[in-house]
Amino acid sequence: MDLSGRCAVVTGGNTGIGAAIVRALARAGAAVVIDYVAHPEDAADLVQEITSSGGRAVGVEADVSTVAGIDELVSTAVDRFGRLDAFVNNAGIETRHGILEIEERAFDEVIAVNLKSAVFGTQRAAQRFIEQGSGGVVVNISSVHEDWPMPGNLSYCVSKGGMRMLTRTAGVELGPRGIRVVNVAPGAVNTPINEQTMQDDALREKLRASIPLREVAEPSEIGDVVAFLLTDEARYMTATTVFVDGGIMQGSVGL
Ligand code: BGC
Repeated sequence: MDLSGRCAVVTGGNTGIGAAIVRALARAGAAVVIDYVAHPEDAADLVQEITSSGGRAVGVEADVSTVAGIDELVSTAVDRFGRLDAFVNNAGIETRHGILEIEERAFDEVIAVNLKSAVFGTQRAAQRFIEQGSGGVVVNISSVHEDWPMPGNLSYCVSKGGMRMLTRTAGVELGPRGIRVVNVAPGAVNTPINEQTMQDDALREKLRASIPLREVAEPSEIGDVVAFLLTDEARYMTATTVFVDGGIMQGSVGL
């Protein structure tokens, strides 16, 4: 996979799936802007890891639930690396409340971090691609729950369902301008968001048994797919979702 000479922003890039995406893009030769809100040391370690093996990366503390935060990421890409070719809307949180429990503040927070950030990340990236006179790619990291109910995780499912239609609508609007928008929908992945499940033997086994490939994904298995989607080999893919879920959606119930 060759992304040399390209520059990508990854939101929530210092941990979990985000960090694996950053590594995959850097390995393919892209310069990467690593966004984070907490644990600056993780971002610093990742930058060090990439630069010490000859790659290009910079960490930026920016809250992507605000448009100002998104703008800072785009301007850092342009100032440091001269251009922007890809924007990966990866930042996400979940609070595990159902419809009868969810409160306004928690709902607003999940929607702002997961969905509003992706809407304006897509917008600002697309504006930059157009200004540059280039094409570009936006990848949104949604979830199997863009399409699959998860009882007790209402705001998350609503946000991911929103990303599904963001990708389709923006993909259709931006296709004629040479800009692609694709969702990647992971299933269960071994990341901090699933820490509780992974530490409980019974829950972990139940989850594994519900996955046709019988394994929870490692973050790199998502990162590699994202890197591919940013290459020219994926040039005919837009306005759709790539599920990377070990078959979980076709199996039994989720956790
Ligand atoms: C959620 C996890 C869940 C997984 C599979 C992910 O999107 O973040 O909490 O285990 O989907 O259901």
